[in-house]
Amino acid sequence: MSSTERALVTGGAGFIGSHLVDELLDRGTEVVVYDNFSSGRRDFLPKGEIDLVEADLREADRVRAASEGCDLVVHCAADPDVRVGHKHAQRHFEENVATTQNVVEACRTTDAVDELLFMSTSTVYGEVEQFPTPEDYGPMKPISTYGASKLAGEAIVSGHAHTFDFDAIVYRFANILGPRLTHGVVYDFVHKLEDDPTTLEILGDGSQEKSYCHIDDMVDAVFALQAWEGRERAEIVNVGTESWTSVTDIADLVCEAMGLEDVDYEYTGGVEGGGGWKGDVKKMRLAIPTLEKLGWEPELTSDEAVRTTAEWMAEEVI
Ligand SMILES: NC(=O)c1ccc[n+]([C@@H]2O[C@H](COP(=O)([O-])OP(=O)(O)OC[C@H]3O[C@@H](n4cnc5c(N)ncnc54)[C@H](O)[C@@H]3O)[C@@H](O)[C@H]2O)c1
Repeated sequence: MSSTERALVTGGAGFIGSHLVDELLDRGTEVVVYDNFSSGRRDFLPKGEIDLVEADLREADRVRAASEGCDLVVHCAADPDVRVGHKHAQRHFEENVATTQNVVEACRTTDAVDELLFMSTSTVYGEVEQFPTPEDYGPMKPISTYGASKLAGEAIVSGHAHTFDFDAIVYRFANILGPRLTHGVVYDFVHKLEDDPTTLEILGDGSQEKSYCHIDDMVDAVFALQAWEGRERAEIVNVGTESWTSVTDIADLVCEAMGLEDVDYEYTGGVEGGGGWKGDVKKMRLAIPTLEKLGWEPELTSDEAVRTTAEWMAEEVI
């Protein structure tokens, strides 16, 4: 919403959060970043243009204090690592559910806040039978503790928005890629190939197919949806590309971007029919009917998002 005066961005030092901070500043919005720097980075933050609260979202009083005077809360902070759930059963509940409760509680009790944007994920759908998957697909059966925690977060946001009269948008993102990427398959492949340019270990059987979306498209979609006046009290929206890329194709695109030929791919075979790890959804492609209704479409396809990100990493990071 272009009229936002002051926004609290949780996880604003992270990959997605820092890009949203940049866009909010460009729009003339004052920004408060709330981050514990567990995965966020100080060099992702603009110098001197923001108020920074270095704290954990588990500290409910500090979340509430930080939201004072903000009309918008953008909730990005989470532990987004699907893989940790298998080893640490409580982690996603504590990091993604309990913290979201603290954020909605701040929205409820702070007079100025009238809108909450919540960053969710395609992972909430689990393994589906319909591709591309629309927003009203169900029943939703997450197969990871991460997916479960984000679905719980969506429910908490929707319930509080309706009960306590603030607006909310839940964005279900495909896999997001682009500058400042700090995790995920493209990031892993580039770093593995940097260590050993002759061989690439690929988790799973390589046939996993998912949709990748460039961060610039994602940021554009976030604000296009926020500006939409016809939305519901708590709108739930898919954000992605309707194309997808297999893991083996990602390996090819990364090798090409790094100028590598004849790399030996070593597949681990994976778990449960070729997934990379326990809880890895093997196929994901989102329908974006709400965004299409608004005339929005991504600039880059899934393959293009992978290629440009791999090229950026090959140039900037290595
Ligand atoms: N990256 C993707 O492809 C993707 C896809 C779908 C959804 N999402 C969602 O988008 C959001 C951002 O993801 P990201 O990829 O930018 O992750 P990220 O790890 O780069 O960013 C998370 C940020 O939150 C901060 N943080 C984590 N726990 C915190 C806590 N308890 N208190 C304060 N700060 C805390 C971290 O330091 C970091 O800056 C997450 O909610 C994630 O679930 C990401």
